[in-house]
Amino acid sequence: MYLSRLTLFNFKNYEETEFDFSPGANALTGANGSGKTNVLDAIHYLCLCKSYFHSTDSLNIRHDSAFFSIAGKFHLGQDDNSDDVFVGMKAGQKKIVKRNQKEYQRFSEHIGLLPVVMVAPIDQELITGPGDERRKLMDSIISQYDHLYLENLVNYNKVLQQRNALLKQAGKGGYVEASMWQIWDEQLATYGTRIYEARKEFIARFVPVFNRYYAYLTDDSEQVSFGYESKLHNEPLLDLLQKTHSRDLMLQYTSVGVHRDDLELLLNNYPVKKIGSQGQQKSFVLAVKLAQFELIKESSGVKPFLLLDDIFDKLDIHRITRLMELVSNDTFGQLFITDTAEEHIRGVFERINVELKVFKCEK
Ligand SMILES: Nc1ncnc2c1ncn2[C@@H]1O[C@H](COP(=O)(O)OP(=O)(O)O)[C@@H](O)[C@H]1O
Ligand SMILES: [Mg+2]
Repeated sequence: MYLSRLTLFNFKNYEETEFDFSPGANALTGANGSGKTNVLDAIHYLCLCKSYFHSTDSLNIRHDSAFFSIAGKFHLGQDDNSDDVFVGMKAGQKKIVKRNQKEYQRFSEHIGLLPVVMVAPIDQELITGPGDERRKLMDSIISQYDHLYLENLVNYNKVLQQRNALLKQAGKGGYVEASMWQIWDEQLATYGTRIYEARKEFIARFVPVFNRYYAYLTDDSEQVSFGYESKLHNEPLLDLLQKTHSRDLMLQYTSVGVHRDDLELLLNNYPVKKIGSQGQQKSFVLAVKLAQFELIKESSGVKPFLLLDDIFDKLDIHRITRLMELVSNDTFGQLFITDTAEEHIRGVFERINVELKVFKCEK
């Protein structure tokens, strides 16, 4: 699978630009602020219908423009066929995603077609940020190989919103009819339990792969692991929901469920956030991403696009060498990598004897 042509109109700093990519390794070089990361984000948009960096689509419209559009020509199989994917948005209107000129009614139908893994400095938030970040990680990986998961997630969030609206309507310590509780609790429990089961299964598969990559990157003997934290370990969700009616009415929101799950990231059985050095934390995050890549590849049968943003900035030479070994031994498919120094990135790829196509971004 590869992307041969990317066309941007009024996307962030790009007025009108076209890229003809190599099916192998591609580099985007240029000074800070020249638009390297923006190109990776455009590719991410085409794969997952959204930005990697923020959830407000209109922020991507070039200043003083009325719309943005991103178009990509994708080659999914061995034959000469290609698929045109389009994402566009006019200011004040809803985002449109099309495949071969046909508009998707639901973006979730597109997810999984073009699997992608991004590695960016912001990923550090996986360790230091709120639980949201870690749930998003699980959701993003699982939904790229399990279509039903995304559907369950969308439905769960819809029901959750409705249940919360009901709680708001009833008011603090107010009254909700038993039949209403039943409707929302049962639906939430149905979708939530499916999500819980999928996450549990995912963690079981993920941890050994993650361990292997961590050891590979660091040559260290530390024990790393992920603990999946969920109240559902001890009790079915339906029971949990029914037990917390009065508390939820006081709080005015649903206080139990898979939207409160978290991942505990462990180094030698202690939270990596607390005891991990900078280097260990970076290796941790990179190992997560490589494991993500492998899991999606195994489940979907295709090598996801790999988007590497500014990785040379944050990794030491040992880890870069390890990562480059993976690049040269065919582990990855199409690759997009950013770096401020063109000579540097050319040198890195020459050393591993991998052809690189370089694109210069200019302010
Ligand atoms: N909506 C927008 N309209 C115009 N320019 C934008 C918009 N969003 C971001 N930019 C510009 O994009 C540039 C940052 O691009 P980025 O890809 O992050 O750079 P790099 O990765 O090369 O450092 C900044 O100069 C910023 O002002
Ligand atoms: Mg950047």
